[in-house]
Amino acid sequence: MRVCVIGTGYVGLVTGACLAYIGHDVICVDNNEEKVKLMKSGQSPIHEPGLPEVISESIRQGKIEFTTDIAAGVNHGEVLFIAVGTPSLPDGRSDMRYVEAVARSIGESLTEGYRVIVNKSTVPIGSGDWVRMIVLDGMAGKKNIDQIQFDVVSNPEFLREGVAVYDTFNPDRIVVGSGSDRALQLMQDLYQPIIDRSFAEDKTLPPVPVVVTDLNSAEMIKYAANAFLATKISFVNEVANICDRVGADVKEVAKGIGLDSRIGSKFLQAGIGWGGSCFGKDVSALIYTAEDYGYSTEILKACVRVNELQRTLVVEKLQQALKILKGKTIGLLGMTFKPDTDDMRDAPSLTLIDQLSRLGARVKAYDPLVSQSGLRQGFSNVIVETDLERLADGCDAVVLVTDWQEFLAIDYAKMLTLMAHPVIIDARNFLDGKALEALGYKYIGIGR
Ligand code: NAD
Ligand code: UDX
Repeated sequence: MRVCVIGTGYVGLVTGACLAYIGHDVICVDNNEEKVKLMKSGQSPIHEPGLPEVISESIRQGKIEFTTDIAAGVNHGEVLFIAVGTPSLPDGRSDMRYVEAVARSIGESLTEGYRVIVNKSTVPIGSGDWVRMIVLDGMAGKKNIDQIQFDVVSNPEFLREGVAVYDTFNPDRIVVGSGSDRALQLMQDLYQPIIDRSFAEDKTLPPVPVVVTDLNSAEMIKYAANAFLATKISFVNEVANICDRVGADVKEVAKGIGLDSRIGSKFLQAGIGWGGSCFGKDVSALIYTAEDYGYSTEILKACVRVNELQRTLVVEKLQQALKILKGKTIGLLGMTFKPDTDDMRDAPSLTLIDQLSRLGARVKAYDPLVSQSGLRQGFSNVIVETDLERLADGCDAVVLVTDWQEFLAIDYAKMLTLMAHPVIIDARNFLDGKALEALGYKYIGIGR
């Protein structure tokens, strides 16, 4: 099938490259010329494991092209994905200006024939009908308007950064919302190789469940899924804070409750709180949508509040261990909001850097990706070190902020010899506390 993906960020590029890899003819459109240039040369503008291989193989097979020309993409595609950002506005609502601009351009660019316009971006409930209206606005004045037909479909994305290619080939489900049988059939055809698990790690599994529903319910599914996951983490963080006070270990508690199949073991890792480009903005958008309809969401507001408090916990633990933080040197292990990504959007490390520098501490950080990239220069109030020795040198405490696998392999004995004080705060409960204590560290976890 002929596919156009507009917006080649973490979602659009992975979607476009994976659809090309499974055999579709894909044109990816972005208005960022630098990005398009990079992608044309076979490189990925984002760090995502497996993505460079998928892109270069798709280019080699002649299945993918990159352009800034939206009209070329729109004329090529039978299925047109909108995958641009929907960040939070200052009041917490979704900023829909990028979706609006793309929908209008689609309307202006449509020539003739039938198209399925797919909202892949996470958009407020009711946006499907709104996109239809904007596309029609864009078409206004065209002479051949009766030869142009389209349907709008909601097809929310559930991939996680850091494992986005894996998630695309091995989804738990595919959600498609539309009132049009013709559009639903095209979406089914598009995803058939993924539904059949032809590119899955385990090909013996039953087909991927497809949830076919109406537009509004599909849009709501996306928000409800992210809100539930964020709430699950806030819940376990609250349990961790009780554990801290009563002398229980939240890792043991999470194991014990997670084995109950009604609860499940995933998303029960207590720590510094959730971050990233999705949870915060999506929970907040759902809170505001509910408010627009006269409903106050008490659980979701508490979910956000607990997360805000959780981000201050590390500073409290540092104050307990070191007392005055003014003039102290704190080293951060990890900066990205989670491992295996270069994404710094709403990363807990940024809140921590801000809080510590306001208290007069000197903050240094080392991150496997940020330290080695051009991103390194872009931060204030933190010295981004290029290696672990420089990070540890003179630190009064080290805080593990991101659970990068390679932090398990650090020579912690050597690190100790470089530090001024032997304090380590494990803000992800990731390290072996007993082994670190045996080396002479004062090990402080979250809720253990
Ligand atoms: P992103 O910011 O990484 O990428 C957006 C891209 O769109 C950028 O490359 C930008 O240059 C491009 N763009 C903006 N306006 C454009 C225009 N008019 N024409 C062409 N290109 C344009 O965003 P993202 O993280 O990929 O998120 C995209 C959407 O997917 C959001 O709604 C987000 O909520 C949703 N989502 C994201 C994730 C995730 O893990 N990042 C997961 C699921 C859903
Ligand atoms: C999330 C959703 O999982 C995904 O389905 C959606 O499409 C986009 O948003 P992502 O933000 O990429 O994905 O990462 P995720 O693995 O969900 O982690 C989000 C945040 O929660 C990270 O900061 C992570 O460190 C934190 N987290 C996750 C915890 O603190 N504890 C956990 O148990 C799991």
